[in-house]
Amino acid sequence: MIFGAVLAGGTGSRMKSAPLPKQFLLLGDKPIILCTLTQFLRNKRFDAVYIAVNGEWLNYFQSLLTQYGVSDPRLRIVAGGSDRNETLMNVIRDIKNTFGEREEDVIITHDAVRPFVSQRLIDQNIDAVLQQVACDTAIPAVDTILSSQDGETVSSIPPRRELFQSQTPQSFPLWQLWELYKALSPQQKAELTDACKIFVLAGKPVRIIQGDVYNLKITTDGDYQIAQAICQSGLWQE
Ligand code: CTP
Repeated sequence: MIFGAVLAGGTGSRMKSAPLPKQFLLLGDKPIILCTLTQFLRNKRFDAVYIAVNGEWLNYFQSLLTQYGVSDPRLRIVAGGSDRNETLMNVIRDIKNTFGEREEDVIITHDAVRPFVSQRLIDQNIDAVLQQVACDTAIPAVDTILSSQDGETVSSIPPRRELFQSQTPQSFPLWQLWELYKALSPQQKAELTDACKIFVLAGKPVRIIQGDVYNLKITTDGDYQIAQAICQSGLWQE
């Protein structure tokens, strides 16, 4: 089966001015979380689409679904976890309980705060992960990237042609992801900032899907302003 997982379990602490978690702010006439979810629901290849929402905001999210008339028999809602990977594991636990396990199952995971995900990105992730290989969506670095161990002086400047900026979707053979994550120590789990790293740590290949500059992550107030400008410009194609 092909599962979609939109992760919205965070609270958006780096977006200082927002009165509520950033995924609930409006983009155009709809909350960001619904813009992203709608893009996933629009793709008919998914057998089920999960949305994981911070436990304290579940009722609020349910009311948004009603208010904006979003419903789909494939939609499943679960509570988020203590960090992004734990949120993803909550989704996988529900898949296990609800649908059981099939060797060929795959999952396409995505940040709820990347509303400009295109059908091309979703489809290319699905095509690649169906070959049972993990995939990361990424764009080549355009700026020179500095590495600094102390945050004050430059430690090294890696060659730019080898550097990419990771986005999402990130897609995985589902039960491989589950087994590899379970095998990590608590310390390894705490240090993971990225689900693809679970495969990298295990020495497994991760294929790069060519990302898109519009597919930005809304992290700060500035990002939100840019996202609103993109939305109003009409430049972004679904
Ligand atoms: N996320 C999640 N569960 C968590 C933490 C984050 O599902 N426990 C999701 C966020 O909701 C977001 C995505 O992961 O859609 C990317 O994370 P990030 O931008 O870091 O979101 P927040 O954790 O909400 O932001 P911040 O780090 O500023 O608090």
